[in-house]
Amino acid sequence: MSSISFKTSQEKSTYKFDREDWSSAYTNVEKELTNQPLKVIAGSIPKGLSGTLYRNGPGRIERGGQTIHHPFDGDGMILALNFKQGKVNFTNRFVRTKAWKEEEGAKRFLYRGVFGTQKRGGLLTNALDVRLKNIANTNVIRLGNELLALWEAASPYALDPETLETIGLSNLQGVLSSEEAFSAHPRFDPGHNGEPKMVTFGVKTGPKSTIRLMEFATEGEQGGHLLNDRKDNFNGFAFLHDFAITPNWAVFLQNAITFNPIPFLLGLKGAAQCLSSNPNKKSKFWLIPRDSGAFKGEPPRIFNAPDGFVFHHLNAWEDGQEIFVESIYYSSFPSIKPNEDFLKIDFGSIPEGQLKRCKINLKNNKISTDLLSRQCCEFAMVNQKKLGKKANFAWMAVAECKQGNGPLQGIKKLNLSNGKEAFWSAAPSGFVGEPIMVANTEAKKEDEGWVIVLVWNGTRRSTELVILDACDLKVQGIVEIPIRVPHGLHGSWYNHQEKSTSILEN
Ligand SMILES: [Fe+2]
Repeated sequence: MSSISFKTSQEKSTYKFDREDWSSAYTNVEKELTNQPLKVIAGSIPKGLSGTLYRNGPGRIERGGQTIHHPFDGDGMILALNFKQGKVNFTNRFVRTKAWKEEEGAKRFLYRGVFGTQKRGGLLTNALDVRLKNIANTNVIRLGNELLALWEAASPYALDPETLETIGLSNLQGVLSSEEAFSAHPRFDPGHNGEPKMVTFGVKTGPKSTIRLMEFATEGEQGGHLLNDRKDNFNGFAFLHDFAITPNWAVFLQNAITFNPIPFLLGLKGAAQCLSSNPNKKSKFWLIPRDSGAFKGEPPRIFNAPDGFVFHHLNAWEDGQEIFVESIYYSSFPSIKPNEDFLKIDFGSIPEGQLKRCKINLKNNKISTDLLSRQCCEFAMVNQKKLGKKANFAWMAVAECKQGNGPLQGIKKLNLSNGKEAFWSAAPSGFVGEPIMVANTEAKKEDEGWVIVLVWNGTRRSTELVILDACDLKVQGIVEIPIRVPHGLHGSWYNHQEKSTSILEN
């Protein structure tokens, strides 16, 4: 039994979990299944839940007896869970990237991983090997007729949306240059400026950073066509994993970090292990006017941001001259060092993520910050019809402990106006992935729908899909997944109906 304790000046809390219950999820996925009907083991699947949950995450944890150094270095494996009339079918496939095919053939790692996985053979083999291994493992989204497996430092891989077979590297109908970076965190504008759009970005960084902001059509025959495209240059290195949108702005947070590439070039560290928080630098918000918004063509605005490190944003919205940005803040950049084993990680030694809201005043440049939720959280989202507008509710994965860091074991619904919370917990032996809030297509209320989440059952050493009522987080159904799925990254919901007709009450 592993134990983690947290102390603050006022209080002390202790929470215990069995670390092997958590780490046992990290095994190689050996099977690829096609359209397999799944067994409901508790409750039932709501009839109104109709569409496909796509999800991405590491599926190869080990090759030739060598375990990856960090889960983010695992090759992307896509799941599709297709819900229809109270039933669900399951398909999974690895993304056949160039590196995946080469390494499967060789039965060993041939590339270094960005997060510290090294090739066998020590420094001589790894030094000066700066090739990027596009592992397509971070997110999976539908854009027009294409299904795209995303990894932010390179171009997406296109997959068949039904069979998940890999079609190949995509340049999005000529939009991207060869292997151009394309974010794994697109945002889907529900229709702030006319038709719905996918807004996303690519970043080129160094002493100066360039952000390419792109907007794509998502509906009908135009789906996948580039509508807007602009590039802006900023001073300084940027690590931009995510961003947020409002009707008029794309909001980026430039973390106060330093990149020292020397240990990477010498073969001592992965590129991402060369990032570190720099207390002498100040984080900045970079606000870029959207080409479909009211400030089209104007230059970006730059503001100071709170201290800390941000991977993910929840949402952003505008109110007159004020922009509100909700994000998950860590006190510093969390990483796994070269001599550490991620399977034995001490959660208590890593900073926890906390949800904060930052208010930026465009007129007087003043910034203020509020803590929305102290409890360690990740993977937060709002009802997607509220993206870019003030939302009343957020759903997120949370640690069981109320303070400090811990593995994600529960789901929280947070009322963003009054702080009221609802919980569902898989503790002590269950561990959750990213919750996806699926709005009921006929809903009038913002919290009407379901939350679907993959859960690693540490007791049974198996994966389950849990369906919760989005309003009160009561369990609606639990479905057995026929393969063991390692703790994963991001996914998306695709509604096969063309458009939802409902209008949300405020
Ligand atoms: Fe992410």
